[in-house]
Amino acid sequence: MRSILFAASEGVPYIKTGGLADVVGSLPVAIDKEYYDVRVILPKYSCMKQEIKDRMEFVCSFYMDFNWRSMYVGILKTVTDGITCYFVDNEELFSSDKVYTDDPLFEIKRFAFFSKAVLSALPLLGFRPDLIHCHDWQTGLIPVYLKERFQDNDFFRGIKSVMTIHNLKFQGKWGINDVENITGLSGYYFTPDKLEAYRDANLLKGGLVYADAITTVSPTYAKEIRTPFYGEGLDGLLNARAGDLRGILNGIDYTAYDPSNDKFIPHQYDASNFRKIKIKNKRELQKQLGLAEDDKCFLIGIVSRLSDQKGFDLIAYVLEEMLCNDAIQIAVLGTGEEQYENMFRYFAWKYGEKISANIYYSEELSHRIYAGCDAFLMPSLFEPCGLSQLMALRYGTVPIVRETGGLADTVVPYNRYTGEGTGFSFANYNAHEMMSAVRYAESIYYDHKRDWNKIVERAMAADFSWKVSAGAYQEMYDWLIG
Ligand code: ADP
Ligand code: GLC
Repeated sequence: MRSILFAASEGVPYIKTGGLADVVGSLPVAIDKEYYDVRVILPKYSCMKQEIKDRMEFVCSFYMDFNWRSMYVGILKTVTDGITCYFVDNEELFSSDKVYTDDPLFEIKRFAFFSKAVLSALPLLGFRPDLIHCHDWQTGLIPVYLKERFQDNDFFRGIKSVMTIHNLKFQGKWGINDVENITGLSGYYFTPDKLEAYRDANLLKGGLVYADAITTVSPTYAKEIRTPFYGEGLDGLLNARAGDLRGILNGIDYTAYDPSNDKFIPHQYDASNFRKIKIKNKRELQKQLGLAEDDKCFLIGIVSRLSDQKGFDLIAYVLEEMLCNDAIQIAVLGTGEEQYENMFRYFAWKYGEKISANIYYSEELSHRIYAGCDAFLMPSLFEPCGLSQLMALRYGTVPIVRETGGLADTVVPYNRYTGEGTGFSFANYNAHEMMSAVRYAESIYYDHKRDWNKIVERAMAADFSWKVSAGAYQEMYDWLIG
């Protein structure tokens, strides 16, 4: 039996702000239990739901030297779907009302603390992982501490680490002096071949330098991040470590996202009856959102963090034109940057029958949008993998995407001549190219309904469960553990 510990800043069903949580929640469940004992460790946030906190049981506590102080570390645990999840407790650091705060220095402190606490706790847990699988910058110090601070101790010797990049844009950067103090790492570590990048300390870079292997969440993004445009300043390092870098496509939880058995949607359906039933979800959605109740109108969904990553600048550029001229409706669900929140609020005020802006977080409404819309728009500037388009495919809601990262790897563009394709796509980050792709989709929807339904059929038949990708992770674990 091989033991793997996932360390991350969020994970379903405990706490979620985006796709990272979906992956940390669903990948461990998909890994073969006969050969692997996979456990997860997350921070314990005060903003977690009370019922989640009530399920946690106390494991142990100790004091740890950190930032020139002795700090309390509590460890709690709970088990869901057979997966043990540990939680690192420290009220001073994890009691904000949001998962992530807007104070970058505080964020560095919180997750440097978390990274050191994860390693310090291991000998007390009765669980020695063969490999620690780290996710995003928040856990970037784990490979560093593991190799440089903890390997002297027999317990830690030989533990391997993997660093997975879910989003290269976020790196955990701050001035070197402060980070030296916080982490207790000396100036030796803050040089350009280790944790320094462009004169700042960079926690993700630490993880990328010290981990035994690096992965990211799609093959195309694995290639893209080796170029200056997508590399966020780390393309040089990623090229240097290209031999240790692989792109493994994310899957989604096919039980939680299953149109034939989804308690959030009013009418369950599958590939055999979507032609009759999916429309009923559309009617309910139009009614719920106050859109014109029109079976025929092409309804486009958006469920997203409202961030520039997701291509909202393209939408801002042509939305008014499309709302004026096109027979479309748009259902938006998301929160994020104020400019995009306000843009959707404004258009919903001006064109209330055509666009509905739901500026909040709702698991339930997200499922209703995936089920009730005809198409799903995701014109990202960059997209490491993207899970929303996979959810849309699963619900037969045809994705319209830009050909980047995981979007390029998962959506096959419709080809009228060969009859292939599961969605629509465009290549350049250009608003009019996006608009053409949407209009092409509209034209197939309105004028070639049979062809449209074939696209829906193929979308629903595409398989993005974890089956294949969990195997790819297992292969990597075996190769590293030896
Ligand atoms: P990212 O991780 O970059 O935000 P992904 O497509 O990988 O993008 O994952 C986004 C996840 O977050 C999906 O599960 C999506 O349904 C969910 N999501 C995003 N915004 C909301 C929201 N406002 N309400 C409910 N779920 C949301
Ligand atoms: C990140 C990326 C997204 C990816 C998710 C899970 O948040 O933005 O593309 O699907 O992580 O890996």
